[in-house]
Amino acid sequence: MRPEAQIEFFESQTPMSKSFQRQQKEMDAKKHSFRILTSSKSMIWTTPPHWFDYLNLEFGFTLDPCAESNTAKCRRYYTPEENGLLQSWKDERVFVNPPYGRAISLWMQKSYEEARDNGALVVCLVPVRTGSRWWHNYAAKGEIRFPIGRLQFGGATTSAPFDSAIIVFRPRPQK
Ligand SMILES: C[S@@+](CC[C@H](N)C(=O)[O-])C[C@H]1O[C@@H](n2cnc3c(N)ncnc32)[C@H](O)[C@@H]1O
Repeated sequence: MRPEAQIEFFESQTPMSKSFQRQQKEMDAKKHSFRILTSSKSMIWTTPPHWFDYLNLEFGFTLDPCAESNTAKCRRYYTPEENGLLQSWKDERVFVNPPYGRAISLWMQKSYEEARDNGALVVCLVPVRTGSRWWHNYAAKGEIRFPIGRLQFGGATTSAPFDSAIIVFRPRPQK
């Protein structure tokens, strides 16, 4: 190898090289967005509008039970102050993009039970977490759709660092 080429090669391998720094920055950005998206701070990460529109065409939603007034996807919605988990979803067609973190389990339980006992049709947009208890207890009992590719949530500058799933809980006939 020519001496200059050797130096170039060496420089491209050293930790301080430009490409190394760029890779570090990209990795840091990904780690950052992963931490945010998988923490309860992700409560503000909103559904991409075209995904909601696509699902809404099929299901015609009437209620968004976990929202803020500026992110609500339906005319009827509940905010944290009203606590959508404590409200009845009776006979509604419900779109749920739940807050992540531990609360996701409560939202999945509520979604499952409202469809089973209360005539609601509930569609949930959730991260694929097949090893989680909530996935086994609730998500696995719905119809599951796996979109190709990863979603870019509202407010994010890159695609999510995880796959998403759409879980449909259809209302059980009431006796
Ligand atoms: C992932 S965001 C989804 C926002 C919006 N519904 C959407 O699909 O773009 C979850 C939302 O749930 C709200 N939230 C958290 N806990 C709640 C609760 N107990 N009742 C109602 N909303 C809640 C958060 O403030 C946040 O706006």
